[in-house]
Amino acid sequence: MEKKHLIDPMDFSVKELDEIFELAHQIIEDPKKFSKICDGKILATLFYEPSTRTRFSFEAAMMRLGGKILGFSEPNSSSASKGETLADTIKMVSIYTDIIAMRHPKEGSARVASIYSNVPIINAGDGGHQHPTQTLADLLTIESLKMGLKGHTVGICGDLRYGRTVHSLIKAMTRYEDTKFILISPKELKIPDYIREEFIKKNNIEFKEVERLEEVIAELDILYMTRIQKERFFNEEEYLRLKDSYILDEEKMKIAKEDMIVMHPLPRVNEISMEVDNDRRAAYFKEAEYGMYVRMALMCKLLEVI
Ligand code: CP
Repeated sequence: MEKKHLIDPMDFSVKELDEIFELAHQIIEDPKKFSKICDGKILATLFYEPSTRTRFSFEAAMMRLGGKILGFSEPNSSSASKGETLADTIKMVSIYTDIIAMRHPKEGSARVASIYSNVPIINAGDGGHQHPTQTLADLLTIESLKMGLKGHTVGICGDLRYGRTVHSLIKAMTRYEDTKFILISPKELKIPDYIREEFIKKNNIEFKEVERLEEVIAELDILYMTRIQKERFFNEEEYLRLKDSYILDEEKMKIAKEDMIVMHPLPRVNEISMEVDNDRRAAYFKEAEYGMYVRMALMCKLLEVI
């Protein structure tokens, strides 16, 4: 694989993604076979924003590959708190380590980091922009549980404006034949215009935008729920007004197809009732598990140990 960084979900071709998913399946089948493959490699996790799944799954992934980890989970424990620039931090960390996974509140920060790094940079979320490794987890989940990535009607519900996982997933799914999107959000939280114009319309993808989940849930093969992104709102009153716009519960699941799957990048707040966790169509915890395996595969490819 020639690519050095993963900044945007479109950085890998469909063929390269297939190779990553194939490797992830091999790791799931026989994890022991890969348990020393990154012996001597060091992953840095630089998290300027909170995380549970992404940081822990990256760190667990590297440990399960036999490598080591270092990093910070909040910037106050690094020299960023003394005013060090991102560029200088990246120059330093790329001397000490072999690969860097980075989350930052500023859109475009991972791209900037890649300019100053001697080692692969992985974008673990840049503001409300992109989250390409969540997309890898999402695609592996769909590919595994829905028998491939083509021909699905995908409902994406919640905060489509600020949800970076939504932007990355839409971009990635436009490359698979016969994808149809049903975008469900309050009018204040619709997808950014550039996603609608540059990726959905330009690729002639069938789509519609609606406000009520009940109206469309029966049409969906995949329901991708998202949290209203409190941390991106400028106005707390508006957040409070919109925060419980959607709550998926048993009643709504009764209208859904028997083989629809429910996904969510997590963390959830109120948008999926706990009762739905017991429904066999709930795929969000499996999705988080796939996230670790796909990050193992990704790091093997970027480090060229395979
Ligand atoms: N899905 C995701 O990015 O979760 P974290 O914020 O916990 O990393």
